[in-house]
Amino acid sequence: MSTRLRIFPDLVQNPIDPRLYGSFIEHLGRAVYTGLYEPGHPTADPQGFRRDVIDLVRELNVPIVRYPGGNFVSAYDWEDGVGPRAQRPRRLDYAWGVTETNQFGTNEFMDWCKAANTAPMMAFNLGTRGLDDARRLVEYCNAPAGTKFGDLRKAHGYAAPHAVRTWCLGNEMDGPWQTGRKTADEYGRLANETANALRQFDPTLELIACGSSGPAMPAFAEWERVVLEHCYGQVDALSIHLYVCEAGYKSLADYLACPVVMENQMRDVLAACDFVKAKHRHKKTMMLSFDEWNVWDMARFGAKCERWAEAPPQLEQLYTFADALVVGGLLLALLRQSGRVRYACLAQLVNVIAPIMTAPGGGAWRQTIFHPFAQASRHGRGALLFTYLSGAPCTDTPAHGPSPDLEAVATRDGDHITIFILHRGQTAPADFTLGIEGAARWRVFEHQVLAAPDPRTTNGPGQTDGVAPRSMPTARFSAGNSLALALPPLSWHVLRLTPETTT
Ligand code: AHR
Repeated sequence: MSTRLRIFPDLVQNPIDPRLYGSFIEHLGRAVYTGLYEPGHPTADPQGFRRDVIDLVRELNVPIVRYPGGNFVSAYDWEDGVGPRAQRPRRLDYAWGVTETNQFGTNEFMDWCKAANTAPMMAFNLGTRGLDDARRLVEYCNAPAGTKFGDLRKAHGYAAPHAVRTWCLGNEMDGPWQTGRKTADEYGRLANETANALRQFDPTLELIACGSSGPAMPAFAEWERVVLEHCYGQVDALSIHLYVCEAGYKSLADYLACPVVMENQMRDVLAACDFVKAKHRHKKTMMLSFDEWNVWDMARFGAKCERWAEAPPQLEQLYTFADALVVGGLLLALLRQSGRVRYACLAQLVNVIAPIMTAPGGGAWRQTIFHPFAQASRHGRGALLFTYLSGAPCTDTPAHGPSPDLEAVATRDGDHITIFILHRGQTAPADFTLGIEGAARWRVFEHQVLAAPDPRTTNGPGQTDGVAPRSMPTARFSAGNSLALALPPLSWHVLRLTPETTT
């Protein structure tokens, strides 16, 4: 039986915020030091930023990058990372058990964002600090010179404000691992009061409150409800985090089907948001900020290192082809929910559970997961289209029940339609038919496939022939506007369509 995808090119479900393709840089492991920043590296620019990494970040096309944490931010004193480098203190980072040299801080991050063609999403320390510190940091970043913190920034070499729009009110404040963890009531009040103060400085700031750290947290959904009861009127979005990994499942089929967990999580958190909206008669609809998501095997790729080492390798997960398929599935879930997800950040960007890896003094390379993310980020823009998928075979997975072997999402940006298809069936090729509704004629101008001989295939330094997209011959639509494809088992496809010209 053939799986059939009907696409409605003129029926837009919702616009897609480009910030769905954000990422995340934390002061953790080698993300910053020997990742973004390595003075003396052969590709380093005058500020010590690795150009080879910037080139790959530009290839990923990330419109926003969250910084500086993560768990790190909850005991971070931002003043340590500004001003003359020689005077910046070395500090112990309790979150990851390492020494932070502070040679890279807020101003360097702003410069790096410009070089990488992205925008900052900054996080406040609401763990060891609070409202007053948030006020000072926001003024340091955004106030004009001629004020205390504007002048301090100017004295540090930055006369013009950085104009940071998007701010996270803390990080994972429900986590027992978080420095300065709070109860939902404590945090909700703090988020509300902090947001209220910041809005007096600038009502146009975009403020994100912390949701719970994930669906496995005992107070999941209740945390969201309580926090929003306090701060719904003051914030624009609620954060949501999820990490999945193959070791968390008993079979490959279970693992490949796990993006359903992300989709259910988004639905559940939105239910909590909408409950608070209804209860308090709010007019505004709460958006989600999925500002940490990825594959992460915490047990194998943890933070273990020599105590108080400087930028040691931590969380350096080597990704497989199966992981790339799961990242593809997670992207499809995000796209399907993009009507309510304003921001999402692949966690993280460089060296730490990352699509980009570097060798100190050496090269930079793309992990398997780089590819589906780069393709979605480049082509999954514009608007989500209505589609209808029928006839997909199902695999009975012990963890998630019946799971479709095929999933597809279509987006439209001007005259270009992009179709992302994931085939997670493991045994046979799938007969797949694409049907375009309406009278207009379309042609496929690009078909890329990501496939590998073994789901455990990985990429390595300098490897260009590992897991990477390959171009396929492009099939033609029939007179009835349909097209048949045979999709190999375990494969990810990106098809790009443009209107057929009659000439
Ligand atoms: O991304 C790694 C860590 O995962 C982050 O610091 C934290 O927010 C989450 O628990």
